[in-house]
Order: sequence, then C-alpha cells, then structure tokens
Amino acid sequence: MTIAVCPGSFDPVTNGHLDVFTRAARQFDRVIVLVTGNPAKKTGLFTVEERMELIREVTSDIANIEVDHWSGLLVDYTTAHQVSAIVKGLRSSLDYDYELPMAQMNRRLSGVDTLFLMTDEKFGYVSSSLLKEVAKYGGDVAGLVPPAVKAAMEAKLQ
Ligand code: PNS
Repeated sequence: MTIAVCPGSFDPVTNGHLDVFTRAARQFDRVIVLVTGNPAKKTGLFTVEERMELIREVTSDIANIEVDHWSGLLVDYTTAHQVSAIVKGLRSSLDYDYELPMAQMNRRLSGVDTLFLMTDEKFGYVSSSLLKEVAKYGGDVAGLVPPAVKAAMEAKLQ
C-alpha cells in the first residue's frame, strides 16, 4: 500500500492544490491531504476545521483521498502513518528555494522523500495568499478556486 501525504496550510484550498491532489491520487493507493500548522503564518481566514471541510467537499469525488490535520512535526505524522512520500506542487524557482530545505530536513529527520509535481501552467501564479488579497478587495477568483471555496471566501469576507 503506497500512501502519500500532501501537507499545507490550505487557507483556503485552490484549484492548483486540487490539481496536485488529483494527480497524486493517480500515483498512490491513498492520498492524505494534511492541514498542517505553519509557524510563519499565525492567523488564517479559515479555521483548520473549515479548511478540512472545504477540502473534503472538493475532493469528495476522488475515492482514495482523505483529509486530516496535524500540528506537530510533519515527519512524526509520516512515520506514524507509514507514509511512502510527501507530495507537493512546484510553481517556480521561488517554491524550489522554499521547499528544498524542508524536503532535505524531512529526509534527514526520518528518511521520507518529497516528490514534486510541476504545477499545471493554468495555476502557476495561483496562491491562497494572493487569492485572499484579490477577494478581499472585491476581485473575481472564479476558476482559480472551486465554487464552494469561492462562496465560503465571499461569506467570510463580507
Ligand atoms: O502551505 P504552506 O504553509 O507553505 O505549508 C508549509 C508546511 C505546513 C508544509 C510546513 O510549514 C510544515 O511542514 N509544517 C509542519 C511543521 C514541520 O514539520 N516543520 C519542519 C519542516 S522541515
């Protein structure tokens, strides 16, 4: 049984994330989307429960995707759950510079490898932070987040 974990803040989940989850689900028996604490991001638009619920909703048609949360070291979760690999999307060299030390640290700590999927070109510029800023000032994020996420963002930002 191969198990992948896709960790992240997902505040909120975007179509770029969803594309990575979907592609990972074709390569692994089980994919766990893990809403994980990032010490650099103190507050969020959505609570962890809300983020998980949105991810559940937008991945409900993919049988081998499940959703969980974790507030400790990522490698403690991957070791405890016999995770085969961490899977993340890579949009640009900025992501590469951010991700490389984490991937190397996680491998040093536990031996787990991180596999990167190149982001679909449609979503190369999409990030949760940018979408929150656009939505906050009334910009249209349709097509960049699933409709349920767009509705939830509008409700929060009203
Ligand atoms: O979506 P993000 O915020 O860029 O995801 C970063 C995240 C949550 C994957 C990273 O901060 C993380 O793995 N946090 C868990 C704590 C941990 O293990 N830190 C050491 C990483 S080497």
